[in-house]
Amino acid sequence: MIFDDSTAAADLPREIVDAAQSGTVVVLSGAGMSAESGVPTFRDVQDGLWARYDPMTLATPEAFAERPALVWAWYLRRLQLVRQVQPNEGHRAVADLARRHPVEVFTQNVDDLHERAGSTRVGHLHGDLLGFRCADCGRAHEGDVEVPDEVAEEMAPPLCPHCGGNIRPGIVWFGETLPADVFSAAERAMRRASLVVVVGTSGVVHPVAGLPLVAVSAKVPCLEINPVETELSDWMRWCWRATSAKALPELVSAITTR
Ligand code: OAD
Repeated sequence: MIFDDSTAAADLPREIVDAAQSGTVVVLSGAGMSAESGVPTFRDVQDGLWARYDPMTLATPEAFAERPALVWAWYLRRLQLVRQVQPNEGHRAVADLARRHPVEVFTQNVDDLHERAGSTRVGHLHGDLLGFRCADCGRAHEGDVEVPDEVAEEMAPPLCPHCGGNIRPGIVWFGETLPADVFSAAERAMRRASLVVVVGTSGVVHPVAGLPLVAVSAKVPCLEINPVETELSDWMRWCWRATSAKALPELVSAITTR
């Protein structure tokens, strides 16, 4: 069943509300969740300086090994952006629901906007932009990473005080393994959920794109929130073609008031 973006809390099928109210709501979010905060999605056209680079080719350990200053500067730019923006109504709605109802959040986003909105149970499937570590010895990088007002196209990463290796963002790059504990917690959550809400993800990057199918196999109903059809849409019991900042507050209102 497909809803358009004029759908409000009162219009949602009773079945969605009942499913949500009967147990844990598991939210699986992607880049679209943060889009209305002003963080461009990975597949959005990038602005000026970065337009020449495909983020997919920068988000690899090989790219960092070959051109650490280019990749580091690209992530500094994202870090700068993430520090400047605020959680949106969608993040706030999820946190609000979690104050009154069992909710678990798993995100592919490396920003901290779910947490800054007040969500406390957030699994970062692709790591955390703010958790830096040494690319060589793996030790966590203590201390703050300075972001200059103007990020140049290439900026050398700081060096590890223990081994002299390059410091890298604590995120999962293409070809790297996801944090096993977070991924298996997400798989468990998919099976045990009473409702899975898949929001703002294109569903093209595996293994996370396979998580909703774990829910489907366990007969857990899934609701997709995304303005467009995705690779996952066919698997969803409901597709809500709306943005996360629009749909999530309506969904939470339905769950908490109906
Ligand atoms: P994508 O950039 O692939 O997809 C973003 C999705 O969000 C698209 O389906 C959009 O239609 C949708 N979208 C855009 N604006 C939205 C809004 N306001 N509300 C709801 N949905 C909206 O992002 P992900 O699916 O998260 O991985 O990408 C998955 C992974 O690929 C990322 O975590 C990253 C990336 O390369 C790594 O860096 C390893």
